[in-house]
Amino acid sequence: MKTNRIIQGDALAELKKLPAACAQSIIADPPYFNVLEDEAWDTQWKSATAYVAWCEKWVAEAMRVLRDDGLCFIFGQLGKREHTFLHLMSRLALQHQYHDLIIWDRAVGYNERRDSFTPQYEMILVLRRGDEVKFNKDAVRIPYDAATIQAYMRDPRYKDKKARRAHLEAGKFATNILRIPSLKGLSKEKCGHPSQKPIGLIEKLIESSTDPGDLVIDPFLGSGTTAAAARNLERKWLGIEKDSNYLNIARARLKPAPSAEPPKAAKAVRPPKSSVTNRKS
Ligand SMILES: C[S@@+](CC[C@H](N)C(=O)[O-])C[C@H]1O[C@@H](n2cnc3c(N)ncnc32)[C@H](O)[C@@H]1O
Repeated sequence: MKTNRIIQGDALAELKKLPAACAQSIIADPPYFNVLEDEAWDTQWKSATAYVAWCEKWVAEAMRVLRDDGLCFIFGQLGKREHTFLHLMSRLALQHQYHDLIIWDRAVGYNERRDSFTPQYEMILVLRRGDEVKFNKDAVRIPYDAATIQAYMRDPRYKDKKARRAHLEAGKFATNILRIPSLKGLSKEKCGHPSQKPIGLIEKLIESSTDPGDLVIDPFLGSGTTAAAARNLERKWLGIEKDSNYLNIARARLKPAPSAEPPKAAKAVRPPKSSVTNRKS
């Protein structure tokens, strides 16, 4: 199968053409359903029921193309009054194996509600196919700063100072609340998509769930964030996008820069790799 390319087309129809169990990871950021009220692609369903039925179909196909030890990440957001994603998550968790629910903390609120707290997060439902998944927990550790390491080193309970330092210098495990600022209007990363995700967020999903050389599929590629992240990390990728404007944005973004930096995977210094296996919960 030819990889590292964008397929212009409908996610459901194109996923159906892909071979079973080819992807190590699927990163799906589908239309939310009536959250971005000015975007035709987000308001194309007559009812929440129709949207949920459509999602169930493409998720079934996405799970078919996922490897047994792979993970499928599905973004979702609640609107001002819409709660459709809650129902969708519940149905998908009954139809497939639930793995995790990640909170993407966008660091600032994203719209004004006078009658409630200001929303600040999106959800990422994670499904798996099999009982054992590839998960590189060390690859997404969060480094402690020097002052914190110094302070923790003073803890008298730890007698083996060398081992303690090595442990602290490896950083702490990331939690399933990922705090990464959403892209603001003037952000250099912004390239013209109304719901473009920060590349740092997508890189965390890819680094944790795949190794270099593995295939990542994004059925709703938008501005190409997943492809750019996968390329940075030396993973193979395949993206599907229906809209030709976004397709052009993604293609322009993926054009190799004349003096491009070496891919991150080549220069990253990582703690010793350990693939953590999760048993069925
Ligand atoms: C939430 S956006 C994805 C944004 C992307 N993650 C990024 O960082 O740019 C959803 C995308 O799905 C596309 N889309 C909507 N319906 C589709 C379909 N049936 N098949 C493929 N793409 C579709 C829209 O054009 C839109 O670009």
